[in-house]
Amino acid sequence: MASSPCLYLLLIVLSLWAIPCLSYTSFIFGDSLADVGNNDYLLTLSRADSPPYGIDFTPSGGRPTGRFTNGRTISDIIGEALGDSSFPPPYLAPNAAENSKHRGINFASGASGILDETGSLFLERIPLGQQINYFEEARNHMVEKMGENHTSEFLRKAVFSIASGSNDILNYLEPSIPFLGRDKMHASVLQDTMVSNLTTYLKRLHELGARKFVVVDVGPLGCIPYVRALKLVSKGRCSPTANKLVQGYNTKLRRGIYELNREMGPETMFIYANSYDIVIDLMRNSRQYGFVNANDPCCGGSFPPFLCFRGVDATESSFLCENRTEYVFWDAYHPTEATNLLIASRFLDGDASAAFPVNVRKLYEA
Ligand SMILES: *[C@@H]1O[C@H](CO)[C@@H](O)[C@H](O)[C@H]1NC(C)=O
Ligand SMILES: *[C@@H]1O[C@H](CO)[C@@H](O)[C@H](O)[C@H]1NC(C)=O
Ligand SMILES: *[C@@H]1O[C@H](CO)[C@@H](O)[C@H](O)[C@H]1NC(C)=O
Repeated sequence: MASSPCLYLLLIVLSLWAIPCLSYTSFIFGDSLADVGNNDYLLTLSRADSPPYGIDFTPSGGRPTGRFTNGRTISDIIGEALGDSSFPPPYLAPNAAENSKHRGINFASGASGILDETGSLFLERIPLGQQINYFEEARNHMVEKMGENHTSEFLRKAVFSIASGSNDILNYLEPSIPFLGRDKMHASVLQDTMVSNLTTYLKRLHELGARKFVVVDVGPLGCIPYVRALKLVSKGRCSPTANKLVQGYNTKLRRGIYELNREMGPETMFIYANSYDIVIDLMRNSRQYGFVNANDPCCGGSFPPFLCFRGVDATESSFLCENRTEYVFWDAYHPTEATNLLIASRFLDGDASAAFPVNVRKLYEA
């Protein structure tokens, strides 16, 4: 009877949550780096619902899915590597919670940040706090169907990934709009507010039953084509102002994660996933990793308005590079699938410089 609780669980929930006992379940929170289509259901300027977005995403036959890249996101790739080929659906998709095939839910939303007001220029988006409210709704639904104990057991094994913060920093870096007339807070106040709000949200997820966390830092935003154009940085360089701001935040985040691990005890683990150092290494050694262009976006351009789109014919479309695997950046803001593959493999199997204190595979197996 050793395996019976699992079988029992499976039978109870088959109609709603078909969960093979050893499957990888993941709940994903964050911004456009992780969005798999939530923004398609919102009134927003931040959308990836037209070609050539998704051009290399095999499950959709190359059609756009709301992913802000040419192929798979980092979470998609990690999910696949851990034996799950059905990606968690976007929460706002019809029947996302009832969809019996899925292995978790994706709450991420393009243009959103840790702070509620981040991304307001894009109109609708789901700030991190609201994403967690949505998770709570989904959890209530699970409790109704499987009961409190089975829900707790289910969530205890699931991996919760949180990748947010880039947009809070990008918004801060943008020139302020005079008629909105608000003074900028000091950079250290921004960093502290972000870390303390994120910590609050992580604790709330913990209260709701999450035990395995992957918290992704903010990547080197000073190196993305959009910021390099904004800050007039020459080819092959990154904006030191932007990267310093990010590094300050990441240092504070790392300390916050360390504290959380100490506070919460052995039943809970928070991983700090170091995308910053991985991407810096990739930019410095891009040739070795097989990239030919680490400066320009594959799609759109390096200059405002940075639009990546396909018009009715080639002359009306934005620039699209010949070989997408040779580019680090897909558009002015987002990495290509080729870059995502590299980051994902380091998160999954890398050493402590990539994911601390353990990598995602170890967290999953724990
Ligand atoms: C940060 O968290 C506090 C406390 O939860 C909340 O009141 C505040 O609105 C949050 N700030 C932002 C900018 O989201
Ligand atoms: C749920 O778990 C608690 C504590 O382990 C136990 O006392 C209770 O009987 C369980 N409830 C059900 C419905 O199994
Ligand atoms: C694209 O670039 C990669 C790496 O340089 C190379 O291996 C591949 O053959 C190229 N594909 C095409 C279609 O040219």
